[in-house]
Amino acid sequence: MRIVILPTELEVSRFAADIISDVIKKKSRSVLGLATGSSPLATYEILIEKYRKGELSFKHVSTFNLDEYVGLKHNHSQSYRYFMNEHLFQHIDIDIQNINFPECINNDFKECSANYESLITKQGGIDLQLLGLGNNGHIGFNEPTSSLSSKTRIKTLTKKTIESNSRFFDPSEFQPSLAITMGIGTILQSKKILLIVTGDNKKKAVVDMVEGPISAFCPASALQLHNNTVVVVDEAAAANLQLSEYYVHSESMHLNSTSDRIDPKINAN
Ligand code: GLP
Repeated sequence: MRIVILPTELEVSRFAADIISDVIKKKSRSVLGLATGSSPLATYEILIEKYRKGELSFKHVSTFNLDEYVGLKHNHSQSYRYFMNEHLFQHIDIDIQNINFPECINNDFKECSANYESLITKQGGIDLQLLGLGNNGHIGFNEPTSSLSSKTRIKTLTKKTIESNSRFFDPSEFQPSLAITMGIGTILQSKKILLIVTGDNKKKAVVDMVEGPISAFCPASALQLHNNTVVVVDEAAAANLQLSEYYVHSESMHLNSTSDRIDPKINAN
């Protein structure tokens, strides 16, 4: 795992946006796995800015979102499809045919989930998966005790996640307690993983993910098994990391580059 600690959320977002644009510039037909939540918002804004400046095109990019609520219509303002349209897709030149969500219109969740997995495989797999981190260590909607080899499926959300996401819903509004999410196994198949996490309230989850044992109790700890993961974290969220000095030192050897390390001897993920 490469751990990059940066002072502020803005710097985290800039770094993340640079990694994403590097991937697209290297491969215009990149397949991106995308995330919702507040963590990637500033990153999306920077990507939009890069597109507007003519530095980046999403014309041939395909996207697969990590998760989607069950029980909300496509155009519901809290659906993740709506979120992505609002915060990214409608501002860039992506072809809407290339946008994918784990939605299930016919309520056959097994079939819809299997289809989502097949679609990802058909596209050649995910080149870069962007992730946020839930307070309880979840990634996507893989709640604690999710199987570390799980694939796309329907999940029941924990009370903690429902509470934490209630800030996006009007109190009188229906808030789903089910979602379809890529599994941890799906995420681990991505060629590269980029997780961004900011804020004091995530510092326990960050420690569990990076320095804790690999455990289904902290789903994000499964990323320790992936050999091309970058965790970009602000100082507030990194506050309790035991080896933060080492991570900072290791990055200084790397000259804060967003691209992969060149010397395989240094590239000790
Ligand atoms: C939701 C999403 C996750 C996201 C998490 C953290 O539950 N399903 O993909 O990473 O929230 O959200 P935030 O970035 O708003 O803290």
